[in-house]
Amino acid sequence: MWCRLLLSLSVLFSFVHHGTAGVTSDYTRSVWPSVDIPLENEAFAVPKGSNAPQQVHITQGDYDGKAVIVSWVTPDEPGSSQVHYGLSDGNYEFKADGTVKNYTFYNYKSGYIHECLVDGLEYNTKYFYKIGDGDSARKFWFQTPPKIDPDSSYKFGIIGDLGQTFNSLSTIEHYKQSGGETVLFVGDLSYADRYQYHDVGVRWDTWGRFVEQVAAYQPWIWSAGNHEIEYFPYMGEVIPFRSYLQRYPTPYLASKSSSPLWYAIRRASAHIIVLSSYSPFVKYTPQWRWLAEEFKRVDRKKTPWLIVLMHAPIYNSNAAHFMEGESMRVAFESWFVKYKVDVVFAGHVHAYERSYRISNIHYNVSSGDPYPIPDKSAPVYITVGDGGNQEGLAGTFRDPQPDYSAFREASYGHSTLEIKNRTHALYHWNRNDDGKRVATDSFVLYNQYWGTSRRRRNLRKNHLSSVVLNKKGREQL
Ligand SMILES: [Fe+2]
Repeated sequence: MWCRLLLSLSVLFSFVHHGTAGVTSDYTRSVWPSVDIPLENEAFAVPKGSNAPQQVHITQGDYDGKAVIVSWVTPDEPGSSQVHYGLSDGNYEFKADGTVKNYTFYNYKSGYIHECLVDGLEYNTKYFYKIGDGDSARKFWFQTPPKIDPDSSYKFGIIGDLGQTFNSLSTIEHYKQSGGETVLFVGDLSYADRYQYHDVGVRWDTWGRFVEQVAAYQPWIWSAGNHEIEYFPYMGEVIPFRSYLQRYPTPYLASKSSSPLWYAIRRASAHIIVLSSYSPFVKYTPQWRWLAEEFKRVDRKKTPWLIVLMHAPIYNSNAAHFMEGESMRVAFESWFVKYKVDVVFAGHVHAYERSYRISNIHYNVSSGDPYPIPDKSAPVYITVGDGGNQEGLAGTFRDPQPDYSAFREASYGHSTLEIKNRTHALYHWNRNDDGKRVATDSFVLYNQYWGTSRRRRNLRKNHLSSVVLNKKGREQL
């Protein structure tokens, strides 16, 4: 009941501020120091057993959610790359064969990195899986999503800029309580690039062990941030994204992408497009051409929810990284409006911010309105770059708060997007508040395709009378 009341008040609050600048929270709290967890801490514990698999994580393995890619590292020797899996704990009747590789980074030599596609899975099914050899084998499980259907409900978590501090650990622990089923990760994973030489690889390993507690059990949908670039000429390491691409595979071929850095998946009732802020995206580049085609593949009758992930936010009123998303806005914003994207999640700025539905597509270098204006076809832009990394919070917002900015606050946390059906989803931003998970910014997100006049027409046609109709909310969000 209290949750409902809080949600109602939050929605009402957002109506009150429609059309004017929103809220800059004055919330401050003491946080743990922004330093990485020491190497010997139990958060990075090496699993027991000779050559035991570690850094286990899964991601979606195909376009529609009937496959996963399981990845892990064996430290001493290659060992088996097979995944044994089945429908009950201890009964692993199926197996899939994977591959193994390793790489060097300066004088660091990685462990043996395994990658195994497990496909042909049933929807909405819990699978148990086992990796590793003999007594060192380890067991995990995951749940496949519901089938692709416009009314499939599903709960996504959104985390960005996580790093490996005690604030990061707090975010992970709060997310585990959220009921989220898949993480949409908006870039900047380990912050290993804050280290030098051999320690870069070491901190990728600790991060892999750190997130395993969640990432081995549910898919993380990866997008790359600037901390994944790792351009280090003085170390002789100049190939961008090298550690990231070695360790965190994505199902890019399933969406006809030519790069693991940009791709799309469909999951339950959502079509999720992952973009790379740090790869070429201007007109005629591979990413630009791919996105043009991917938007055409979106079928809102099957996947009503159109979600875009990127690292550098397009709309950001924080002093940190101000205007860094502007070039991608120029390249893609008109498509976001044309295809009625529901929400764009970004990271990069170590604070939280949400926009109203606004666009700035009428401006060009010779004419037009130069300011963002309310636009019902535009996405909501949400920055969730506050996972808790060692760079600390971005506490300085530009003053005054722009009209397009609905809510902003510099503290650590994660978001959840709980899709209820084709028409609406519940969104929460959850601040890490001294050991509690506090929902600070919450609202009902109405679908951009089914939430307009088409929605009203189809509701009548399909007799979906149970859906909550709220005229103000529809106009607002
Ligand atoms: Fe970043």
